[in-house]
Amino acid sequence: MATRVNAAPGDDLTVAYRRLNAAYQQTLRYAEDVRRLYQQVQRAIYQSLLGLANALEAKDAYTRGHSERVGAWSRGVAAALGLPPGEVDMIGQAGLLHDIGKIGIPEGILRKPGVLDPEEWTVMRNHPLIGAQIVAPFDFFTGGALMIRHHHERWDGSGYPDGLAGDEIPLGARIIAVADVYDALTSNRPYRAALSHATALEHLTASAGLTLDEDAVGVFVGLIEALSTTKPDVDARSVLRPSS
Ligand SMILES: [Fe+2]
Repeated sequence: MATRVNAAPGDDLTVAYRRLNAAYQQTLRYAEDVRRLYQQVQRAIYQSLLGLANALEAKDAYTRGHSERVGAWSRGVAAALGLPPGEVDMIGQAGLLHDIGKIGIPEGILRKPGVLDPEEWTVMRNHPLIGAQIVAPFDFFTGGALMIRHHHERWDGSGYPDGLAGDEIPLGARIIAVADVYDALTSNRPYRAALSHATALEHLTASAGLTLDEDAVGVFVGLIEALSTTKPDVDARSVLRPSS
């Protein structure tokens, strides 16, 4: 009798433990399913944004290929700086989408073959704000939205839209700015031919610590020098629009 009394609570405990463990395992599976679904939703949103970026490329010749290069180089610099993988991903995505706000700029300005007048520049300079607004609804991309908003800020505070300086500028935006400037310099313009890789690097080095983040420039120069196929299509690209 005593054995049975002692055994029953033990059995109950064992059963309860097994049930608890099964419930825990089930919860883990649910959590994994939710995580996977969340990633799928994120990927779907990125794909939609990429569709928008592709639409922009159809609208603006300058952004053709430019977005991919800036995205890839920004990702490379972020990784070389030793940033966490999630941050590296976000900087790469923001680099890819940095000019997405140009979708909201009239084609007459985007495609103008000559230099923009002051009023047109005022319109063009809205594109970082428009871009940030486009991605603003996505909570998981809040950091990326800030990078898009601030990709034309300059280290010395001379940029736009907010005139931020130094560390006030999100690191991702400072990295994207370096890649963006390099790609702009090595692209053909209505008023000048593309600069050579060496001349562009001289310009970047001269701007380090003035308009561009010194550390980001240093890492970018190392990265771009290491790429044996740097800018193979410079001469093939038809570029109508200066960096804006
Ligand atoms: Fe831009």
